Amino acid sequence: DQPPAGCPQQTPPKAQGPELFTWEFATDPYPAYAWLRENSPVHRTTLPSGIEAWLVTRYADARQALADQRLSKNPAHHDESAHAKGKTGIPGERKAELMTHLLNIDPPDHTRLRRLVSKAFTPRRVAEFAPRVQELTDGLIDDFAGRGEADLIHEFAFPLPIYAICDLLGVPREDQDDFRDWAGMMIRHGGGPRGGVARSVKKMRGYLADLIHRKRLAPGDDLISGLIRASDRGEHLTENEAAAMAFILLFAGFETTVNLIGNGMYALLTHPEQRARLQKALAEGDMGLLETGVEELLRFDGPVELATWRFATEALTVGGQRIAAGDPVLVVLAAADRDPERFERPDTLDLSRTDNQHLGYGHGIHYCLGAPLARLEAQAALATLLRRLPDLRLASDPADLRWRGGLIMRGLRTLPVEFTTAQ
Ligand code: HEM
Repeated sequence: DQPPAGCPQQTPPKAQGPELFTWEFATDPYPAYAWLRENSPVHRTTLPSGIEAWLVTRYADARQALADQRLSKNPAHHDESAHAKGKTGIPGERKAELMTHLLNIDPPDHTRLRRLVSKAFTPRRVAEFAPRVQELTDGLIDDFAGRGEADLIHEFAFPLPIYAICDLLGVPREDQDDFRDWAGMMIRHGGGPRGGVARSVKKMRGYLADLIHRKRLAPGDDLISGLIRASDRGEHLTENEAAAMAFILLFAGFETTVNLIGNGMYALLTHPEQRARLQKALAEGDMGLLETGVEELLRFDGPVELATWRFATEALTVGGQRIAAGDPVLVVLAAADRDPERFERPDTLDLSRTDNQHLGYGHGIHYCLGAPLARLEAQAALATLLRRLPDLRLASDPADLRWRGGLIMRGLRTLPVEFTTAQ
């Protein structure tokens, strides 16, 4: 693939490509993704941690990779080969903790645990939760509506999902602010210093283990009690499995939703025509545009970026590229969801887009378990903000906003807004 010598318009050689994981990349990764899709769709790169991995950026390859059972979620497959090469990926202690939940296991354990949790975390339970989500949303807006300005990340997008999941799980209200603190620590230092994060994770797990024990003795009508009750062909979740499950529901459902609300509101504020369309539809009681709109916001600037680690259990080919056994593969959902081979005008935000089978919630057996809850929260959050604060506007130049980019998640650090005060 070498370009002819002296060719004036030569593209950089394949191995190079754009600089990833920089500040500019976190601010706007889409030009880099376009380059990768075009020039090196299965791209070998060195991650900031020093681990070498493949990035898969085209929609068709991404979808295929997400469904390929030879790509395991179990980090042990990486560690075997990493040990052989003299460098390990994930510290042993963390690995042991991580491996017990859905996102890090393969069938048949994954099938069993997912079946059990699906019995407790049903779409019906989520639908019944709608009035509470609305109440939480209104309560958070009440706190700043009289002030004329707010930071929508810290005062709104951040607390909403944490309170919502705590409520759903059955964490008593008086303990929910502890979760808010622990989650804040995790979000602030994600990808940064590990000490505080590890302590917060440990506290959260300890609390959940204790809560599960208490719910076993005195069950209620909450998701944790449902998890304990759930049984399948004589099998139950053990207390450890239930604690790991509750933890992954919090962990997987928290920062993702913060960023869907944050990125989504930012996209609406910077696309006034689309925002006006949505406001008009909402005023007319037409909820259809809100539903397609939230899916489009997820496709256009979804929170999960370089999603979803996988490890090759055997040598295989993805998008024509040979991948060795043990190699980590990262499916870049945000790049796949802007692939012009799959989406018409992929860089245009169109809230009424209907041909929109985006990969924002993943694909295959690990497809997001919390998608109905995420949709409920995002729809309530965006619609209520626009209805109650109709002249909401950015209080900062978009160029001055700071993005938190990482290996997994991308979202705004702050989203300062102003508006005419409301009741
Ligand atoms: C899995 C995205 C909200 C729970 C996933 C995956 C993605 C994703 C991409 C697949 C990961 C992979 O294949 O490796 C999102 C986004 C959300 C969101 C964009 C919000 C906007 C939630 C919520 C919950 C949740 C609210 C629960 C309360 C889970 C769980 C899994 C998962 C448990 C693992 C499922 C499995 O491995 O079988 N999510 N998620 N997510 N999500 Fe979500």
